[in-house]
Amino acid sequence: MSSIKTKILGLGIYLPQKILHNKDIEKIVETTDAWIFERTGIRERRVSSTDGGEYPTDMAMKATEEALKEAKIDRNEIDMIIFASVTPDMPIPNSSTILQTKLGITNKCGCFDVAAACSGFVYSLDLADSMIKSKKARNVLVVGSEMLSTIIDWEDRGSCILFGDGCGAAILGQTPEGEDSDILASYLSADGTGKEYFNSPVGGATEPLTINNIARKEHLMHMKGKDMFKVATRTLAQNSKVVLEKAKLGVNEIDWLIPHQANIRIINTTVDLLDFDPKKVVINIEKYGNTSSATIPIAMYEAIKDGRIKRGHNLVFSTFGAGLTSASMIVKY
Ligand code: UT7
Repeated sequence: MSSIKTKILGLGIYLPQKILHNKDIEKIVETTDAWIFERTGIRERRVSSTDGGEYPTDMAMKATEEALKEAKIDRNEIDMIIFASVTPDMPIPNSSTILQTKLGITNKCGCFDVAAACSGFVYSLDLADSMIKSKKARNVLVVGSEMLSTIIDWEDRGSCILFGDGCGAAILGQTPEGEDSDILASYLSADGTGKEYFNSPVGGATEPLTINNIARKEHLMHMKGKDMFKVATRTLAQNSKVVLEKAKLGVNEIDWLIPHQANIRIINTTVDLLDFDPKKVVINIEKYGNTSSATIPIAMYEAIKDGRIKRGHNLVFSTFGAGLTSASMIVKY
């Protein structure tokens, strides 16, 4: 086994300027602030500007600049970029290479995107951890950046209320001698039989975009909310138990649970199923809604900045999303 440990050297986030409150959505579809808040826990979300400066790689660039300052490394010491997103800037080239250029990284580091929906950030952290521990990379930039507002059907009240735009970026590297930060366990999973629960069925090779399928809005995201809800409540807790067992840790040895921010009722059920202390759960869904691959780094960042999460704390990440993908991880921060 590798003696190398992996540390999150720096974190950064970017949230678009524009705030869309539930009251604003009341003007778009038949809904109410009260219904949305009671059924989801969301009050407002951020929406990226379409005038430029807040596209997924722009947000990623800003979040990474912040992460670089904390990591105290030169940008050319990043030797791999992994970009998790379901809303890349464009289909070709991948967003990680666009980000590499925007960051002014000139070392020709490897760049690839991960399409694992809301689980993308945790999938990417696991990849980064493997690369660092196998000495294939020294410093890996992992980004979760989403501009979901571009694929939301703004006439579907069952889904448009849930999502928001935003980005989180983490730089991972080797833990210095004498420190104990590490990724202690992870579990990546998927169940492809659930693909009908959440998809954008056109715009790929099997059905390229046409005027007709765009008119039918088939290029936008379609979600069976109730089905997703049921899977989520099972998966988040089950997968968390898998990583706890892998790391040989009890629930009471976990300092903070950072669940995917999809619905407050999903989070509460997960906490009940794990018999976890609700005071040790990081929740910010009220302010940002579901930002897909960006929910976990944004929540983690905020809890570090306000002093809740400290170095040495044991954190559990647990997420699920379209695919249906899911991923859990234990990090000694
Ligand atoms: O990253 C993962 C992505 N997705 C998810 O995690 C989604 C998980 N699912 C959910 O969060 C919930 O299923 C929703 C929030 C999407 C829906 O909540 P629900 O409690 O499951 O509502 P429902 O779909 O069962 O609808 C209940 C009622 C329906 O009316 P009737 O048929 O009972 O008269 C809906 O038409 O609520 C109605 N409804 C709304 N009413 C006001 C659905 N959406 C709205 C709305 N405002 N926005």
